[in-house]
Amino acid sequence: MIAVAGLGHWGPNLARNFSELGVLTALCDSDDETRGKFAARYPSVAITGSFDELLAIDGVDAVVIATPVPTHYALAKQALEAGKHVLVEKPPAMRGAEIDELVAAAFERDLVLMAGHLLLYHPGVRKLKELIDAGELGEVLCVYGNRQNLGIVRTHENALWSLGVHDLSVILYLLDEEPDECVAHGRDFLTKGVEDVVFCYLRFPSGKIAHMHLSWLDPHKMRKITVVGREKMVVFDDMELERKVTVYEKSPWKRTDSYGEWQTRSGDIAIPKIPTDEPLKLECQEFMRLVAGEGDRAKVAEDGARVVRALDRLTESLCER
Ligand SMILES: NC(=O)c1ccc[n+]([C@@H]2O[C@H](COP(=O)([O-])OP(=O)(O)OC[C@H]3O[C@@H](n4cnc5c(N)ncnc54)[C@H](O)[C@@H]3O)[C@@H](O)[C@H]2O)c1
Repeated sequence: MIAVAGLGHWGPNLARNFSELGVLTALCDSDDETRGKFAARYPSVAITGSFDELLAIDGVDAVVIATPVPTHYALAKQALEAGKHVLVEKPPAMRGAEIDELVAAAFERDLVLMAGHLLLYHPGVRKLKELIDAGELGEVLCVYGNRQNLGIVRTHENALWSLGVHDLSVILYLLDEEPDECVAHGRDFLTKGVEDVVFCYLRFPSGKIAHMHLSWLDPHKMRKITVVGREKMVVFDDMELERKVTVYEKSPWKRTDSYGEWQTRSGDIAIPKIPTDEPLKLECQEFMRLVAGEGDRAKVAEDGARVVRALDRLTESLCER
């Protein structure tokens, strides 16, 4: 049975989904008023203000952590050491060394350690992965993410941590490689020490490259991932309602009869139908599947870890400049 810790903005969505799946057994929040609200909403669920107490509740074998980011590592470590499976909101830790420690703790005890990278359960992102893995795009050359808007201006967390974690998780999922080069440039125009605009460059051992434009100082509202293959190109646009994914039959090719000069080809443009399933529900179901012993626990933990390691390296690069 599942316990959810942290009932601020995001935790209630997790609690609702696990309740609908019939496995919610306990809740935890350090704030009295929040606890009062949730005790009324879930009268048959145990509720506590102490994470230690939550771990000791009978029947709790998995814990979902939706507390503020700086608390993730310590709470996830405590839960794993108490023998609980863990779903921890993104990012699951702030440093590469911390996430490596959590992965080792989960591996030693054969426990699930899953990061709450919501976009990986978006049917549109799943479609991109399916197209890439089926070889539809030909060799993938580069991927880039745009996550821009005017606002919400954050003053504690920079654009890399606030926005970049989403696109980074998708890029690493699509390419299924750990980057060997991570470079970030950015500027803190509005709040000293908090970068509002960040440009990131990643290069992978296969030679593929990726880029992320992250900003809350922009005239465009964009949530887009573009994948460029040798034969086709595909765009996932989360701002679109009906054309979340567009596949372009566009590519360069070399003419054999004209001294090998490059020509371009523009063929059909296809819009595959994307299911409207709630990504969070799919994420919660995937966690339940892993807890039940299905799927590859070690790969899931490692996939979450490489996002933190890349974030850590991008942060170091950002700080150097
Ligand atoms: N996947 C997504 O799309 C998505 C969206 C929003 C937020 N998030 C993530 O969810 C997490 C929470 O974000 P939020 O916006 O809900 O934050 P929030 O500050 O609104 O809520 C955090 C809650 O945790 C409680 N809390 C703090 N320390 C605690 C502890 N030690 N034990 C028990 N309760 C504790 C606080 O009282 C508060 O109610 C963050 O990691 C954030 O990155 C994910």
